[in-house]
Amino acid sequence: MGAAVGSGQEGRWIVEEAEGDEGRARELAARRARGEPLQHVLGHWSFRTLDVLTDRRALVPRPETEVVAEIALAELRRRHPAGPLLAADLGTGSGVIACSLARELGPGTRVFATDRSAAALSLARQNVTRTLRQSTAQVTLCEGSWFEALPGELAGRFDLLVSNPPYLASQEWHRLPPVVREHDPYEALVAGESGLEAIGEIVAGAPPWLSPDGSLVVEIAPHQADAARALCEAAGFGHHEVRPDLAGRERVLVARP
Ligand SMILES: C[S@@+](CC[C@H](N)C(=O)[O-])C[C@H]1O[C@@H](n2cnc3c(N)ncnc32)[C@H](O)[C@@H]1O
Repeated sequence: MGAAVGSGQEGRWIVEEAEGDEGRARELAARRARGEPLQHVLGHWSFRTLDVLTDRRALVPRPETEVVAEIALAELRRRHPAGPLLAADLGTGSGVIACSLARELGPGTRVFATDRSAAALSLARQNVTRTLRQSTAQVTLCEGSWFEALPGELAGRFDLLVSNPPYLASQEWHRLPPVVREHDPYEALVAGESGLEAIGEIVAGAPPWLSPDGSLVVEIAPHQADAARALCEAAGFGHHEVRPDLAGRERVLVARP
């Protein structure tokens, strides 16, 4: 494969993807060498139990978000062991959280997957079909900004609201490595001047949408933990905590009415 392929493991993945076609393997290796993320070069990536399509339309799924999905699943299983369940994944991107909930919880679960980006939703639609097949009816894709995308008649009925929103400040974007800055969508990464804008909107807007036993689960940056706790206090949540990711960093806000 030559030195351009990158690490040995990446080279092995690229060779596997090319399925014995040497020309294709060289083409993929050249794209990687030009700085494209491996996940775009391969065109798919794993997230928990799923193999999802990945391209420029949405954020490449991250390992931290697998922990967010894990905590969201645990909240639903512990608080609603009998189902049926109603959940929303706000800012679904490639659809990984919504598809994981539907796949891992089974047919008694209904998930609304929302995004403001039509491009992201088109990728999510492909991933719903790819990962859920006969049970695609479980996931409903809705375009719009945060709660505006949800059907009004479901207010007060959600057992779970989960989100991995954009949480970078605009000035942080310039410091990102080119592999992220030039390939992940800006609106998936940057929330605004402070970085807390989307988290603030979601925490403040969640209470009227949650059922009395519902949970809000939101991915945050570790340095935002204190601000996230303050937002929960201001929104009147009766319980809130921030749980760690696999590296022990404060990463997942969990709040209950
Ligand atoms: C960090 S990405 C997360 C994508 C996916 N959930 C994941 O974890 O890989 C944030 C997503 O929120 C979407 N988004 C940004 N602002 C939004 C808004 N006001 N309303 C709904 N979605 C929004 C972006 O388009 C993007 O798909």
